[in-house]
Amino acid sequence: MEKQLIVRYREYESAEQMEKVDSELVCKALEATNLSYAPYSKFNVGAAVRMSDGRIFTGANQENAAFPSGLCAERTALFYAHAHADGAYIESIAIAASQGGVQVKQPITPCGSCRQVMAEFCTSDNPVSVLLAGSAKSIKFDNALDLLPFTFDSF
Ligand code: THU
Repeated sequence: MEKQLIVRYREYESAEQMEKVDSELVCKALEATNLSYAPYSKFNVGAAVRMSDGRIFTGANQENAAFPSGLCAERTALFYAHAHADGAYIESIAIAASQGGVQVKQPITPCGSCRQVMAEFCTSDNPVSVLLAGSAKSIKFDNALDLLPFTFDSF
């Protein structure tokens, strides 16, 4: 039997058209691109995580001379946020990127490893929403699991 998956998401011309909590988180992600350490790729990625108690944690990509040892902005922010959750849960993550101090036009989409980490923090009651921000277009997924169908859960 053939089946199909439908992924729903919302597109915005500008992040300012998003709900206020979302556009504020996007601003924090963009600010966080300044925390990036990317001497190799010169691609500065920022992420901002909003917790259920309203706190916001940010992170940025951290590269390393031994290339696989670096870490994406999303996981830098998510691991820190989860380590400091203190009973709160992760509600949302915003991701932005810049090159040469200018925000990239098209939203960047998280790598597979980051999607897997987002999936870890989704529950059926509290999915993690994902905001991908570019200067020409922004996108919102209500549930990070939509970005990783057939997610590995546990064995
Ligand atoms: N990067 C992120 O931090 N997040 C993404 O979603 C995609 C890529 C980083 C990894 C590396 O430091 C640089 O961007 C170029 O790939």
